[in-house]
Amino acid sequence: MHHQIKLADNIYYLGFNDRRTHLFENIWPIPNGVSYNSYLIHDDKIALVDTVERQFIEDYLERIQAIIGDRPIDYLIINHMEPDHSGALRAIAARYPNITLIGNKKTFGFVENLGFSPDHVLEVYDNSILDLGKVKLQFQTIPMVHWPETMVTYDETHKILFSGDAFGSYGTLDGGIFDDEINLDFYEIDSMRYFTNIVGKYCAHTQRAIKKLAGIEIKMIAATHGPIWRTNLSWILDRYNKWSTYTFDEGVVIVYGSMYGHTQQMAEVIARQLSERGIKNIRVYDSSKTHPSYIINDIFKYKGFIVGSCAYNNSLFPNVEILLSTIEHMGVKDHYLGIFGNFLWNGGGVSNLKKFAETMKWEMVYEPVEEKGAMKPEKYDLCINLANAMADKLKGL
Ligand code: FEO
Repeated sequence: MHHQIKLADNIYYLGFNDRRTHLFENIWPIPNGVSYNSYLIHDDKIALVDTVERQFIEDYLERIQAIIGDRPIDYLIINHMEPDHSGALRAIAARYPNITLIGNKKTFGFVENLGFSPDHVLEVYDNSILDLGKVKLQFQTIPMVHWPETMVTYDETHKILFSGDAFGSYGTLDGGIFDDEINLDFYEIDSMRYFTNIVGKYCAHTQRAIKKLAGIEIKMIAATHGPIWRTNLSWILDRYNKWSTYTFDEGVVIVYGSMYGHTQQMAEVIARQLSERGIKNIRVYDSSKTHPSYIINDIFKYKGFIVGSCAYNNSLFPNVEILLSTIEHMGVKDHYLGIFGNFLWNGGGVSNLKKFAETMKWEMVYEPVEEKGAMKPEKYDLCINLANAMADKLKGL
C-alpha cells in the first residue's frame, strides 16, 4: 500500500527515492540521494508525464495500477529522454500496448537510438494542445535544458508546469514532497549542485527557457527531481535565474594539487592575504580530496578563481587536470583568474595552467607565480601580490 499523493484532484505524484546510487550520471556524487518524479493524470484520457529510472519499474507499474485499475494509459508524454526518466518506457509500452508516445520532432530519434521502436507516436509543437477531458495540456520546447529534445508540459487547467529537469534538485524527498512540507535549507546546496553540475553548461539556454515561460501563469512547478513547488515558487525560480546569469557573490575559490605541501603552502599564503583584504568568502580545496562537483558549484558562486598545480611527470597534477577540463567543457564564463604552482625538476604545472587561461579567456589578474620547492621570500611576495591583485579586481579598485 502507498499513500496516494495528489497535485490536484486527478493528478498523482509517482516518484521514487534513490538512496543507493553514489554517482548521478555515473559522475556526480549524490550523498543525499535523488528522486525521480513521474506524474499521472487520471482524466477521461489517462496520461503519464515522464517515467522513472529502471530500478523502480515493478513498484512503478504497481502504483499506476493501484490508481487506474484495469484502465489503459492513453498517452506517455516524454519531456526528456535521458534514461533516468525513460527507464520504464519499454515496460510501460509492454503493459499498455496501445499507448501513444508524445514528444517533439527531436524526441523520437532518441527513442529509437535508445533501442525502442514505438507503435504509436504523436509529434507535438510549441503551443500544441492535448485535451484529456478536464485537463488540457500544452507543450513548449526548451532545447538544451539540458538535452536537445527537452520540452515542458503545461496543464492549463490547474496551471501546473511539468518542467522536466528544469527547476530540479538533487536530494531525496524524505516524506515531504511539496515545498511547503519541507525545510528547504536541506535543498540549498543540492539544488545548486544539481543545476551547476547538470545544466550549468547551458546557462544561456536556461535564460531563454525562463523568458519563454514568463508569459505563462504558473501555480505549481513539478520537476523530474526534487520538491514540487506550489507555495514558494520564487525560492527555486530566483535561484535558477541567479545561477544562469552568472550572478556572483564576492569571493574566491582556490584549488591546488600538491604532493608534498609546497603548492599548498602557496595557496595558504594567498588565502590569508585575501582575508587580510576583507574577502570573506574564500574556499580552499585540495583537488585530491574534493570532487569537482563541489568545486564547480563554488565557482558558480564566486567570481575569483585561483588555481595552483605542482608538476607531475612534467605536466599538470592529474586531479587538477580533471577539474580544469570539466570547467573547460562546461564553458564556465566570466571569472577573474590567478595561477600559481611549484616544481622540482623541469616544471609542467604552471605552463599548462597558462594553456587553461588561454582557453578560458578569463581575465588574468596577475602574472603566474611559480616556485621551485620550498617557498622563498621572493615568491612569497609574489603570492601576496597575486592575492592583492585579485582583491583589487573583486572590490573594483
Ligand atoms: Fe534527470 Fe537529464 O535527466
